[in-house]
Amino acid sequence: MCEHVFPSTSPEALLAAVLKSNANTGNPRLKEILEIGIRHLHAFALEADLAPAELEVGLDFLVAIGQASGPKKHEGILLADILGLATLVQLNDARHALEAGGTEPALIGPFWRANQPERKNGERISTDDTPGPRLTVTGQVLSLDGTPLAGARVETWQASPKGLYENQDESQPRMNLRGRFVTDENGSFSFESVRPAGYPVPVDGPCGELLAAQNRHTMRPAHLHFLVVAPGHKVLATQFFDVDDPHAQDDVVFGAVGSLLRQFESDGASGFKLDVKLRMEPGETRVPKCPIP
Ligand SMILES: [Fe+2]
Repeated sequence: MCEHVFPSTSPEALLAAVLKSNANTGNPRLKEILEIGIRHLHAFALEADLAPAELEVGLDFLVAIGQASGPKKHEGILLADILGLATLVQLNDARHALEAGGTEPALIGPFWRANQPERKNGERISTDDTPGPRLTVTGQVLSLDGTPLAGARVETWQASPKGLYENQDESQPRMNLRGRFVTDENGSFSFESVRPAGYPVPVDGPCGELLAAQNRHTMRPAHLHFLVVAPGHKVLATQFFDVDDPHAQDDVVFGAVGSLLRQFESDGASGFKLDVKLRMEPGETRVPKCPIP
């Protein structure tokens, strides 16, 4: 005889039944994440007094996020960015390193490309006809205890002074303003570029509709991205921001925090210079998935 057991109508009993249904999840970490997620989702629906029609709107929004994504665009990353979730997860993950003087991480964002061009230290990452003021970048990769890390892979990418990445801009050659460097015996690297400009996040998808509904601006302050891979250390993804940018204190994706806000100093001629220290936390080296080819 088959006996059906329905939960009672109380939210507590329903939550208990849903949590019980998760009890046999095989992967322990997945089980833990699902359990916490279920509890928070139920609490959220009750606190918001969510109506069925509103749940439908929310689920349709999630479907639209997926439909707006493809090989060249990941709307899910953008959603996590504009809600501050990506920044929160990165800062939380780095909390022990930050206490020990580690460099603040910042989100990778949607524009890192696989197979960025390998370049020698001191080389330009911008083609000669890229407009804008010159920028000389020098940097050093260090372990948390101050040991310079030789042979580290330093990837950088940035928008042009027009505020566009090369893959968004037909006027730029392929892989312009991108490079992959290797640190020397002192953990140092350097390159020549142009001063980047701020830019709006893509607003042609559901995230754009959300930002409009919230009456928010769409701008990121000017920045350079870095992703550093050093053996025996956790991968560091970060960005350095131009503190003089009008949106330096008001990044639409909440990435411009702490020591990442920097003054791009005059180099005494018509250009600017930026010197960065990248302090890496010892740990497992796990290179994140690249968002676009
Ligand atoms: Fe960016």
